[in-house]
This record gives sequence, structure tokens and C-alpha cells, in this order.
Amino acid sequence: MRNNKFINKIVCANTLELLPQFEENSIDVVLTDPPYFLDKLDNNWDYEKVSNQNNQYVIKSLPAGMKFDREQGKRFYAWYLDISREIFRILKPGGFFFSFSSPRLYHRMASAIDDAGFEIRDAFMWLYTQNQAKAMGVDHFIKKMNIDEKAKEKIKEKLNGWKTPQIKSCFEPIAMAQKPADQTYLNNMLKHEVGLFNTNVRIGDNMYPANVFTIDSINELINRAFLLPKPTKKEKGEYNDHKTVKPLAICEYLIKLSAFSKNAVVLDPFIGSGTTAVAAKKLGKNYIGIEANEKYVKIAEKRLKELDERPELFSDSMKKLDERSKVSPRVQLQIA
Ligand SMILES: C[S@@+](CC[C@H](N)C(=O)[O-])C[C@H]1O[C@@H](n2cnc3c(N)ncnc32)[C@H](O)[C@@H]1O
Repeated sequence: MRNNKFINKIVCANTLELLPQFEENSIDVVLTDPPYFLDKLDNNWDYEKVSNQNNQYVIKSLPAGMKFDREQGKRFYAWYLDISREIFRILKPGGFFFSFSSPRLYHRMASAIDDAGFEIRDAFMWLYTQNQAKAMGVDHFIKKMNIDEKAKEKIKEKLNGWKTPQIKSCFEPIAMAQKPADQTYLNNMLKHEVGLFNTNVRIGDNMYPANVFTIDSINELINRAFLLPKPTKKEKGEYNDHKTVKPLAICEYLIKLSAFSKNAVVLDPFIGSGTTAVAAKKLGKNYIGIEANEKYVKIAEKRLKELDERPELFSDSMKKLDERSKVSPRVQLQIA
């Protein structure tokens, strides 16, 4: 098997260059949070630059005052189409592709995945309450206007509270795509051991896995249905300075829903500090991580080593979820 050299490893490479080395129809689940290269007005697609920089070029909403450039989304689409075609080739029939995105770019990402041949089955919504609003007021432009001070004050008053159209972003969409099944779902599952969803996995009192989750305690009703455990500092690693570490519980939830086979391989082609690999390993699945920046490869490897040596650091992420799924449906109804 050509993939053997990558199994249970974090490989330092450019994903687009490495993926052609993978065997076709060999991966069960791809779970990833790709970079967007959008925080500058220039077109920074240079692999060398990406692999050497400490920032991950992942600003997902427009930074303050940024000029809107409609070409960015198109460039992202073209790049992600190449990535998605490779992922389509290497996934097993019925294999799943989960891809994190942003409200502003979701349409480009989902279209790239769709055009590569996947069936877009659904979208998850990761709901959160904390984020920085990026909108700008226009007072300093009014100040520069060639009119008298009184007129400026009048405009300021009139536009009080009106800002550039950037809303506080409070959700992250995650595309849920599937490679078409080999004949029926049942046939696909028996032959390739992937393709159906594990409906025994539950969040809170939900009787059925939902496409909404949050790690912020919001209110009793939402918490009861959608709350996943908040990530602890321990699970992230004190040494981990990656700026966009995903909560372990979210990765575990998605892997639990989709990876059936004992030998399932979960691939993250943009693994950053290794969260997907930690989640897969914790659930007894195989993983492959690809990361361009050597510094993050080392952090990911350290986290995986810690999982072996000090598993208690990572035990909180799904504890609640496991406990709740053990509650019988009758008791759940009474609670509700
Ligand atoms: C959004 S981060 C992933 C964070 C990850 N989910 C975690 O929990 O740590 C995306 C990662 O992709 C890496 N990256 C960017 N371009 C890449 C490429 N062409 N090949 C491989 N990795 C790349 C970046 O260095 C960054 O660490």
C-alpha cells in the first residue's frame, strides 16, 4: 500500500505536491480547516512563504478597513478545486470530506468541493458568542471632508452608529461532502466500511446527531441540545502557539459520526497543530496529517506523544458527550 509510509505520521510538505503520492480509494474521512491566504491585498500563494511564516494566513473575515477584492474568492475557488479533486481521488467510495470555512467564503469552498465530484450532503454550523467585530466607523473620513466643522458634526450625528458592512461573525460553516457511494449505501458500507452515519452519537439530550454545535454555554435550551465540551488549555498544550487550534471535541464529534472501520484512516491535509490527528488517535483510528510549516509539525507531534504518555490531559473533550449518550432515551425524555 503506497500510503503505508504516511500512516500515523505528520508529514511536513505542501499538500498539493504530496497528495498525488496517495493511493486512490484509500482514505475514509478527510477533516480539515484550510488556509485562505486572504489577510493581505497581495496574492500570497507562495508555498515557501507559507511554510516559513509564523502566521497562518487564515483571517476569515475582512480585516478592518480592508478593500474588498472579489478576485480573492475566485482564486481560493481555483486552488481549492485542485485540492478537492485530489481528495476525491484518494477517498474511498462513500468517504466523507468535512471542510471548515467562513460565512464569507463558504460559497466558493462548497462550489469547489461540489465541482470536484462530491455530493454536498449538508453543512454544520459551529455557533459561538465571542468574536471581534471588524467594522469601522467613518468619522475620520468625515473629518477629512472639505466642509465646515458644523456640517461635519451634522453628518457625524446623522451617521452615528453606522459602520462599514462587516458584522460580528458568530458562526463557522463546515461543509459535509461525500464521495458518491458504490451502488447502494448498504453495499458501500459492507464493501468499503464507510458511507453511513453513526446516529448513536449524540450531543446533550438530542435524540439524533445535529448539524449545529457550540462550545460556549449560551442558555439552557441551546446547551441541552448543542453544547460540546469547551477545550481545555491542557488539550491544546501550553507550548502550542498556533493561532487557530480547533476544539478537540468538534473533531471527535465529526470523526465519531463518520469513521466506521477499525482501520479507518482520517486525513487532515492542513493539520496545523495536529488536532484532527489527536482526535483520530484518541478514538482508535489511524491518522495522516500534512503541514507546510515545520514548527507546527513539531507541535502536532508533541501533542500526539502527550496523548500516549498523559492521556488524562485529553480526557475532558468527549467525556460529557459519552456520558450523555449513555443516558437512555426514556430518561432523556424525562429530563426534557
Ligand atoms: C487553519 S490552520 C489548521 C489548524 C488546525 N485545525 C489546528 O487545530 O491546529 C491551516 C494550516 O495549514 C497550513 N498550510 C498552509 N498552506 C499549506 C500547504 N500548501 N500545504 C500544507 N499545509 C499548509 C498552515 O501552516 C496552517 O497551519
